[in-house]
Amino acid sequence: MVQPIYLDYNGTTPHDKEVVDAMQPFLDKEFGNPSSSHWYGIIPKKAVENARRQVAGMLGCDQQEIVFTSGGTESNNHAIMGIARSYRKKGNHIITSRIEHPAVLEVCRFLESFGFETSYLPVDENGLVSVPDVEKTIRPETILITIMHANNEVGTIQPVEQIAELARERGVVMHTDAAQSIGKIAADVNRLGVDLLSIAGHKVYAPKGVGALYIRQTVKPEKFCHGAGQEMGLRAGTENVLEIVGLGKACEIAARDLIKNMEHMKMLRDRLHDWLISELGQIKLNGHPDKRLPNTLSVSFKGLAVDRILEEIGLEVAASAGAACHSDTVEVSHVLRAMGVPLEWAKGTLRFSVGRMTTVDQIDKAAYVVTSAVKKLNRASR
Ligand SMILES: Cc1ncc(COP(=O)(O)O)c(C=O)c1O
Repeated sequence: MVQPIYLDYNGTTPHDKEVVDAMQPFLDKEFGNPSSSHWYGIIPKKAVENARRQVAGMLGCDQQEIVFTSGGTESNNHAIMGIARSYRKKGNHIITSRIEHPAVLEVCRFLESFGFETSYLPVDENGLVSVPDVEKTIRPETILITIMHANNEVGTIQPVEQIAELARERGVVMHTDAAQSIGKIAADVNRLGVDLLSIAGHKVYAPKGVGALYIRQTVKPEKFCHGAGQEMGLRAGTENVLEIVGLGKACEIAARDLIKNMEHMKMLRDRLHDWLISELGQIKLNGHPDKRLPNTLSVSFKGLAVDRILEEIGLEVAASAGAACHSDTVEVSHVLRAMGVPLEWAKGTLRFSVGRMTTVDQIDKAAYVVTSAVKKLNRASR
């Protein structure tokens, strides 16, 4: 069977061959516990520390500032809850945006049941948070600002540097969820000026179930997981050596090949976009025209329901929906809602996300399949 063309790299990524090769010894023979003081612990311990160096190298930080986790969700939970708990005496106010991933929004909502208050900042029609809005929202009780680096649905890149500068001036801790930006744009923690940054392995060609949290040395979140002293005493539990090795390698590759991959992805994304415009004319691009991940293309087709489009293309192209259509209702994603995308457009929204393995041939085939499907559905709806 011919598999559909995969255009959902923001959903997850395939494993990079170099990542698989780096992990292989830890599947085969290197089963030791990195905490063991005997011979079997030596190589796993070195491998975990090497991976920490690789992640730190990509982010431009000290290796002691990297804590391995089970992924983006866990990193976000630890960052937000860890800061909320340890800065509780200073204040109870958190600032975030309306377009964060649920792995941030739900943590803030959870904390509200413990007396924390959250300000959910609006975004403009391109999905951008306004820096003056952040400034106006900071109060004496504000302890944390958590604004994502880039959005998973529309790809808009937030002005994290300016927000982090404000945070620093006002003595507020700054976290960013960089699960989608790693490997797609540069993410140097010192250039960004953030105190905490979350990454997810499976968005960067490493396995699912592994991630990392950068924690600036000057910031002290509460311990995440109580037990033995692994991960600088913050996250107890025997390390997931196999996947940590994979994440380390993936980050080394992401940094090494960043420019090449950015150019490749942008060329393919724009080729698909140009094709759709030239064949279909009226389509709406969601997300910022320039400040956008080089791989992400969220487009809306007016008057069409996205599940009908997916039914038409599903055997040939794998993309993701921006809305869920039920028999008589349409549930538009919280991101498109926050951006004010009108319902007749929003309900026909598809997100295409290309990756480093995507080819020109795949894009041309996918463009043909999508334009044929949309033309057919448009004819049927007339
Ligand atoms: C922006 C963002 N944050 C967090 C996550 C969650 O990461 P994980 O799946 O590793 O828990 C995702 C995954 O889709 C994401 O896109």
